[in-house]
Amino acid sequence: MRKKIAAANWKMNLTLAQGEQLINDILQAGIKLQEGQEVVVATPFPYLLKAKALLKNYPGFYVAAQNCYSEKSGAYTGEVSAEMLQSIGVDYVILGHSERREYFQESNAMLAKKIDVALAYGIKPIFCCGEPLEIRKAETQNAYVAKQLEESLYHLTAEQLKQVVIAYEPIWAIGTGLTASAQQAQDMHAYIRAQIAEKYGREAALGLSILYGGSAKPGNAGELFACPDVDGGLIGGASLVAADFTAIISKL
Ligand code: G3H
Repeated sequence: MRKKIAAANWKMNLTLAQGEQLINDILQAGIKLQEGQEVVVATPFPYLLKAKALLKNYPGFYVAAQNCYSEKSGAYTGEVSAEMLQSIGVDYVILGHSERREYFQESNAMLAKKIDVALAYGIKPIFCCGEPLEIRKAETQNAYVAKQLEESLYHLTAEQLKQVVIAYEPIWAIGTGLTASAQQAQDMHAYIRAQIAEKYGREAALGLSILYGGSAKPGNAGELFACPDVDGGLIGGASLVAADFTAIISKL
């Protein structure tokens, strides 16, 4: 059975004290995760060690970085390597978020390298894909996402793919208050799974967790997560409020 995941992406928000408070508030809600359910918290780099320490005694709770560099090490001032993340016990890394693609010019080819280096150091990539509004309006979103998958993931072996989580994030729904309808999310998730099945086989596709991201909140998470191919969410804004994020976890 594939994992159901609620992943919080704090993006560039919160001070250390605020982040610590948020994690403590989430833990104090006393959430009982079921078998196969995971909660992932993606904090800014400076808070990862602290987040790891706070979550380490809570089974099913994991820590993620929001990015890593594509090279193993060297003269890359300001960058953070997968090996560094491994050395502090980071479990997951978000790669290919649309904000990284847009503001930092991350290409599908660069993301393929980042995925390789993350996997080489035992860190599971949460690979983001998704189309901008003009592509959705032109109804070419399937081809757009297929190209992202092909150029960043399809060099992986089936064994490596088992370590990857995909997050589908329609860019027009991120932070906008617009959410893909449950049917739109299901259609794309089913399409992604079918593409993976074609490339890696049915078993690999059935084992792959595909998360939805884009203005997911307590009021719509239940309907989204009930879709057969939606295995949880990558949550931005609503993950910054403990009550909202715990409510979303409860919908897994
Ligand atoms: O990583 C999270 C996504 O970008 C969704 O963000 O929930 O604020 O729309 P949002």
